[in-house]
Amino acid sequence: MNDDLQKKVAQAIHDPKNVGEMTDADSVGTVGNSECGEMLRLWVKYKEQDGQKVIDKASFQSFGCETAIAVASLATELIRGKTADEALEMKPEELSGELGPLPPMKIHCAELVQGALRDALSPDDQEPGQMESPAKPAELSPTLQDSLNAGQAKSGGINIRFLDE
Ligand code: FES
Repeated sequence: MNDDLQKKVAQAIHDPKNVGEMTDADSVGTVGNSECGEMLRLWVKYKEQDGQKVIDKASFQSFGCETAIAVASLATELIRGKTADEALEMKPEELSGELGPLPPMKIHCAELVQGALRDALSPDDQEPGQMESPAKPAELSPTLQDSLNAGQAKSGGINIRFLDE
């Protein structure tokens, strides 16, 4: 990772935005990368705006590397005000925001964020915009840490989608 990107990542994780569980979320998505072992959960809350259902806010928890945390912080800001369809169209390099292009070895960090976002915005693999039955955050353990501590990740108690499966 070059110095410029290293500085931008350091800035982003110095005061990461939107970290933590969102208890009143409408939907939640969790993904893992089986190769590097990173995991990320992302919560989304919608609102009505000008007759459209748009993302009001999003938050995340991560056992990810610094780059994944930085991208998640930026992405949860960038998707606010977008419809689910608009957010789903965002590519990893767009979700990375001001970090700019990531080196090849770090692209999967942004893909982790994109995967969690897709899981949250398309629960049960429904088509975007057909989210009448979103995932139920309340049915999950309170935090990603709790889920992992409880061994639910291994037993299938939480739905973790591995990106490379
Ligand atoms: Fe795997 Fe960053 S190194 S998510």
